Amino acid sequence: MTSMTPSVHSAVESAGYAAGSLLTVADLPVVEVAAILAATDRFEQMVSTDRARTLAGRRIALLFYESSTRTRTSFELAAKSLGAITTLVSDKSSSIEKGESLKDTGLTLRALGAECIILRHANSGAPYLLARSTGLPVLNAGDGMHEHPSQALLDLRTILARLPGLRGRLINGRTLEGVTVVITGDILHSRVARSNAMLLPRLGAEVLLCGPKELLPEEALGLGEGVEIERDFDKALKRAQVVMMLRIQQERIAGLELDLADYILRYQLNEERLSACAPSALVMHPGPMIRGLEISGEVADGPNSAIEEQVRHGLAVRTALLVRALSADGFASVTV
Ligand code: CP
Repeated sequence: MTSMTPSVHSAVESAGYAAGSLLTVADLPVVEVAAILAATDRFEQMVSTDRARTLAGRRIALLFYESSTRTRTSFELAAKSLGAITTLVSDKSSSIEKGESLKDTGLTLRALGAECIILRHANSGAPYLLARSTGLPVLNAGDGMHEHPSQALLDLRTILARLPGLRGRLINGRTLEGVTVVITGDILHSRVARSNAMLLPRLGAEVLLCGPKELLPEEALGLGEGVEIERDFDKALKRAQVVMMLRIQQERIAGLELDLADYILRYQLNEERLSACAPSALVMHPGPMIRGLEISGEVADGPNSAIEEQVRHGLAVRTALLVRALSADGFASVTV
């Protein structure tokens, strides 16, 4: 029996949120990232019957105010693999439709015995309100244009697994030294871009943001050190070990003057561009992707693509995050 590494919960706790909450990557120390990834490995390797005892009978609520395939399903499957009882509350089929507030919905779930809430919401900051009003651990499953912390962690795990020489490397401020990650597309509306741009440079990566002014304002440089802007996609690609493509969020770009034909010409990742500028780059996309717009089908299905692998890492990372949320002392009390 090996004891798991003690977890660091101080940042969220000192801010008054329940230990084990994951609201942002901004206050997640690198040592905690290392603990989450180490736990992810251990749960992935665990015999399924042992894993199913880890959170047997614990109650987890999935509260989704926005559509989701990957995040919702992976959290749900992860919870079930740990033996937890899950319930899904969606804005489309609950009293939210009748006008019930986020706070009252959260308090209702708590009264029903929920011990942890996974929240996706269209409003930036909603997970903070829910965490404050319920006192429960809350996992941010994507809030508006703010953050998607578990996506950044699964993206990190994908990069570590796929880039040569990184597998098994110690996680610290130098782990991704020499790695340039190009993030291209609708940065303005992307919570995935924000979380990755805040997390990856803290492990030593350079993040190069790429896109037209309408979708990538200069203010994005404020995301932190290690973040640059390059508007020419071909130039950016020539520096890339990893390229993350982002969906054009049709639901959020109303009012922006964006010529889609011109966008495709300048920013689509297609075979010709990839083989000319970055033939060995790892291609990532958080999904959902629009084939033929930001990425061609050939690239999405091609040998450089890690898109399906990202989904699998999502299931694994979210398993560890649920254990972290529901163990009073993080991973410290869990033994394998
Ligand atoms: N990456 C992501 O958040 O996908 P879903 O919207 O399908 O959950």
